[in-house]
Amino acid sequence: MDPITTLPAPPAAPGALPLAGHLWQLVRNPLLFFERQHRGAGVVVVRIGPKPVHLVTRPGLVRRLLTDPVTFDKGGIFIDGVRALAGNGVATCPTADHAVQRPILQPAFHRRRIVEYSTAMRAGTDELSRSWHDGQHLDVVRVLHRLAADVVTRTLFSGPGAAHAAREIQRLFPPMLAGLYRRLIVPVAWPHRLPLPANTEFDAALHGIRRIIAQEIAGYRADGRDRGDLLSAMMHARDERTGATLTDTELNEQVIGMLMAAIETTGSAAAWLLHSLATHPEVEEAVLAELRDTVGDRDLNAHDAGSLPVLRRAMTEVLRLYPPFWLLSRVTTRPSELGGYRIPARADVVFSLYCLQRAPEAFPRPHRFEPDRWLPDRVTAGQKDAQMPFGVGTRKCIGDMYGQTEIPLIVGTLLRHWRFRHATGRTVVPLVKGTMRPSPLLMVVTRRTAAFS
Ligand code: HEM
Repeated sequence: MDPITTLPAPPAAPGALPLAGHLWQLVRNPLLFFERQHRGAGVVVVRIGPKPVHLVTRPGLVRRLLTDPVTFDKGGIFIDGVRALAGNGVATCPTADHAVQRPILQPAFHRRRIVEYSTAMRAGTDELSRSWHDGQHLDVVRVLHRLAADVVTRTLFSGPGAAHAAREIQRLFPPMLAGLYRRLIVPVAWPHRLPLPANTEFDAALHGIRRIIAQEIAGYRADGRDRGDLLSAMMHARDERTGATLTDTELNEQVIGMLMAAIETTGSAAAWLLHSLATHPEVEEAVLAELRDTVGDRDLNAHDAGSLPVLRRAMTEVLRLYPPFWLLSRVTTRPSELGGYRIPARADVVFSLYCLQRAPEAFPRPHRFEPDRWLPDRVTAGQKDAQMPFGVGTRKCIGDMYGQTEIPLIVGTLLRHWRFRHATGRTVVPLVKGTMRPSPLLMVVTRRTAAFS
């Protein structure tokens, strides 16, 4: 007899209603709901309506499933809807396609390329910083999402149409993402086909973005040059074993996937970092001292991002407390064992980076912003095990180095010129949409008169 069939099924999370399951609790306060389930067994079954979803709550088990992409594939209720709309790019495709796509794309994220992209990161940040005036009030999340969109479009496209493409993508991206999110939480097709303004706006945004990307691709194909940007890198990349390159449709899907993966993640992380530094003046002071000593009067560059340990620890702590991809999912391709339980084939499996990275067993005072917990002599094995904001295994974020260059570069550059303080006394809390972002973060900027004062 197959030993897996003799294993027990995971326990059910308490409080499910007959038809709705845990849907109501999930919609009302998803973070609290998942945190409560983390106190139980390593795997618990949650019900989204009638659909059972296996929630994995221990870092060791999550690492095991992430390093077995054949059994735990991309797909299931949370991915299928995105794939149907945004395409079968590297972030959403199943393992079999991933084995072809990822090696083609990997060189576009080589350290040498990131140094090239950092010029665009700095240019976008400088322009934004120059556009502010002393005492200006900012909706920081909105501003930094726009900056992240500006940066990723500048790193993608540097041809003659780049500025227009960047403006259009910045305009169309928010309604596209909002529509995609609605489709994620309501995974039934018909409500999204009704002739409602929200649906029409979503269709127009998605088609608009596809059209702009297609125009850029056509322009690049016509002159055939490697412009040193991300689109060129993806266009000229080929699989060393097979010689395969990406078709125009595949390129279009990859670009949409990059936009979706790069904008909200880096934008929200940079916003959380500005918020956390403003609420922890002693850490902000240490970051400023480091910038003064290491960078001085010159502009920040890609190398600085790796050589500012105080700022980096603050970023790591922000990614622990507020992982943008707070909930990730897989689907099983065959029956499997996890934590001593039987997981059937075609089961939806989810895990929450937010909960794993706030587990009190791994992180003392888990809800506090304490960047020094990442000092080399204080990091514990349990802490390293539980921290995975960029994922693990073959599907680990391809843009991790890009993101970890961009965030310190943006925040370091802005902090050199501006002091950020909260404009209202309103508490800032994580807001769970498709990704996790800060609730409205209104800040006022004051120009620093002398260097870093
Ligand atoms: C703070 C910044 C970022 C965070 C925290 C982050 C997080 C993640 C995570 C957790 C995954 C794995 C998802 C899974 O296992 O299901 C992922 C995948 C991915 N990320 Fe990021 N990301 C960030 C920035 C970026 C940027 C800047 C880009 C592109 C320029 C990017 C592109 C991608 C892509 C293409 C994938 C899919 C990789 C694959 O499946 O092979 N990410 N990201």
